Amino acid sequence: MREGGKLRKIAVIGAGHVGLVTAAGFAKLGHPVMAADQDKNKIEMLLAGQVPFFEPGLTELVSETVKSGRLAFSTRIKDAAEFAEVIFICVGTPSRGDSGESDLSAVEKVTAGIARSLVDYRLIVEKSTVPALTGEWVKYTLKTLGPKGVPFDLAANPEFLREGSAVSDFFKPDRIVVGVETDRARSIMEEIYGSFPAPLLFTDIKSAELIKHASNSFLALKISYINAISHICEKVGADINLVSKGVGLDRRIGPGHLSAGIGYGGGCFPKDVASFIHLARSVGYDFKILEAVSRANREQKQLALEKIKKGIWNLNGKTFGVLGLAFKDETDDIRESPALDIVRLLLKEGSRVQAYDPAAGENAAADCPEIKLCKDPYEAAEGADALLVLTEWPAFKKLDFARIKSLLIAPVIFDGRNFLDREELQSLGFTYLALGRP
Ligand code: UGA
Repeated sequence: MREGGKLRKIAVIGAGHVGLVTAAGFAKLGHPVMAADQDKNKIEMLLAGQVPFFEPGLTELVSETVKSGRLAFSTRIKDAAEFAEVIFICVGTPSRGDSGESDLSAVEKVTAGIARSLVDYRLIVEKSTVPALTGEWVKYTLKTLGPKGVPFDLAANPEFLREGSAVSDFFKPDRIVVGVETDRARSIMEEIYGSFPAPLLFTDIKSAELIKHASNSFLALKISYINAISHICEKVGADINLVSKGVGLDRRIGPGHLSAGIGYGGGCFPKDVASFIHLARSVGYDFKILEAVSRANREQKQLALEKIKKGIWNLNGKTFGVLGLAFKDETDDIRESPALDIVRLLLKEGSRVQAYDPAAGENAAADCPEIKLCKDPYEAAEGADALLVLTEWPAFKKLDFARIKSLLIAPVIFDGRNFLDREELQSLGFTYLALGRP
């Protein structure tokens, strides 16, 4: 980390995946930080040293910064707004339903709370993922509800943290994007981000908002594209992993987010793609490419089911051992999890599911009680008609597959993430099923 950052009092409103990492990260860098969240239970847990969700390294970071006295918590926006000169809005912006529109009511509520607490200059930073033009409404709310004559600035600072590696992404981002309208806002953000080892790009507010949606949608497009290529691989007898490697070695394309599998999920891509399509429509542009991305991702799960059927014939009455329920590895998050979507499709077909996930098992079972939760991968395999590996947890690569084979009724394995050692499995006598590999 470079020297040169100045310390500022920072408030973070919303102590979820983004807010908590941001708050603890800034506190670690020396800033006095207050994180506010209206959820009393969450704040009580945090005060007791517990992080309410699984994120590698976050518990340690929070407890270290709380102990140092630099990270405090509150349930009141007013406390945070009075404490800090720079206020990051990090509340959720979920989908409002099938239209794809983002529900921005939490952003509005928090903005109104900040406006009512303004007594002196504040820089309000929009970090929640929002469609372009949200900044206009945030400024309108601050102007309408805030006291006359108290100055404020707005900045847009989209976050690019990935769940599962959010702590390291915070300290080592690829880039930092900040949309500003005044020199004062720009110099405060320069001070805060001056010590980060990454390019700092200043833009206007609307461009910063758009960069977030455009980035997530492009990554989703990459995944849907490589998933489409995987189907062509199957038809011609090519191997998607080799094709992906060859394509990704082109530096203009790059290897990231080019792994084919059962589709993307999580709290971001599905929602952001839908929200971007909605925004485009609302300003008069028919975003056909992105609609195709979203449709392909929905269909991917049905195609996975067809593949499983090919290896096992009827689904009705069969028992499946499932490894992985989280939307990806290193998280307990099951939002829009493609693994869970496939489990639901199987249950609908009359199959039974016995499943193991290193972190997301309880969340998944609470959401889908028909799942029989297992304590380890071997219990999930025991007496099953086939094993389905649906989340890319690295530990699943190192299982004792000879033991797994002895526990299964039939040696059939579906690799929903194309990440297992096909040759090893085939030499053990498994029927290896995957999307895009012969
Ligand atoms: C994503 C972005 O990667 C972050 O930059 C962004 O900040 C975040 O959304 C957000 O908007 O908050 P995240 O949802 O945590 O992060 O997860 P990713 O690692 O991007 O994975 C998303 C989904 O795509 C997962 O279901 C994953 O399994 C799948 N995926 C990923 C693939 O199917 N293939 C790949 O090659 C990569």
